[in-house]
Amino acid sequence: MRKTSLRAHLGKIIALKRWNVYITRKILNPAIAKISKHCNVSVNSKIKPPTKNEIVNEVRNTDAILCTLSDKIDADVIDAAGPSLRVISSYSTGVDHIDVEYATKKGINVTTTGDILTETVADLAFALIIGVSRLIAQGHELVIHNRWKYGWDPNLLLGSDVHNKTLGIVGLGKIGSAVARRAKGFNMDILYRKVHGRNIPIENQLGAKPVSMDEIIQNSDFLSLHSSLNSESYHMIDKPIFRSMKNTAFLINTARGSLIREQDLIEALRKKWIAGAGLDVFEKEPPSPANPLLKMKNVLLLPHIGSASLLTRTKMAEVAAKNLLNVLNGKSPIYSANHPISKLIHE
Ligand code: DGY
Repeated sequence: MRKTSLRAHLGKIIALKRWNVYITRKILNPAIAKISKHCNVSVNSKIKPPTKNEIVNEVRNTDAILCTLSDKIDADVIDAAGPSLRVISSYSTGVDHIDVEYATKKGINVTTTGDILTETVADLAFALIIGVSRLIAQGHELVIHNRWKYGWDPNLLLGSDVHNKTLGIVGLGKIGSAVARRAKGFNMDILYRKVHGRNIPIENQLGAKPVSMDEIIQNSDFLSLHSSLNSESYHMIDKPIFRSMKNTAFLINTARGSLIREQDLIEALRKKWIAGAGLDVFEKEPPSPANPLLKMKNVLLLPHIGSASLLTRTKMAEVAAKNLLNVLNGKSPIYSANHPISKLIHE
């Protein structure tokens, strides 16, 4: 067969084939309906994430997996899927739950929701900055439990200002930059860790200063984490860091829980080495009921809702579906975490 007719023939086979797809959670409409038009879809209909066993059983002979950050897609899962697996489409921007290196070796595309959630996560990071320092949750509790007894009170819930303070950003990528833009509106000084190179546009636009990790730690009133989780960044915020922070400083984390050594954070909060922490992410999600953070007064804790606006989650679902269908149809995904040699070209 000549090359052009072979390609046309291959195109027709691809168009006709109904792929097998496993979707680990019910994501927002119309993403699943769109995938179902072209594929046989199996969706986990429970409200909780599937267990490892359930994932392993469901992925056998599947062509594509659409997963969330709660699903560990490791070598066992990839091997269980077998040679048919072409794409792991993650309904997330972080991919620390996926063995990307192994997937790449196996010629499997790993795709993400890229920068769709940037501004929404930055909004929440700023909500934590203001919320934890101005005691917003404590004020709400006081009012709804009828513990606000005497009206305006000169000494009630005295928090810390946000404006004119110094914000240290660890990870000045898309989300870190979006947080920095918000900080500028509060007239904050912005420091960022220059270890992975300079972000000249943000330096020029916002006057952000590239400094060493030591300088960030020692000078920040708010330290906000926006790094991806990998072997280098795992537990990067630990006891020595807390010992060097200002005792009036707040730690904010909307990235991944394991960037922080949580037991060191608990000690730092107990011993007042820092003033407080605003956390949307934890080492274990949900945290165990025995986690001391849950009983502390100087924290504001959220259930990993950084990207959780209706619009952003809908867009994330659309992008995850499009990434998956693109790869199955031999096209490039919108956002990739790797660049494996395509199985279609290879076979
Ligand atoms: C992500 O996509 O990595 C976010 O943590 C989801 O909210």
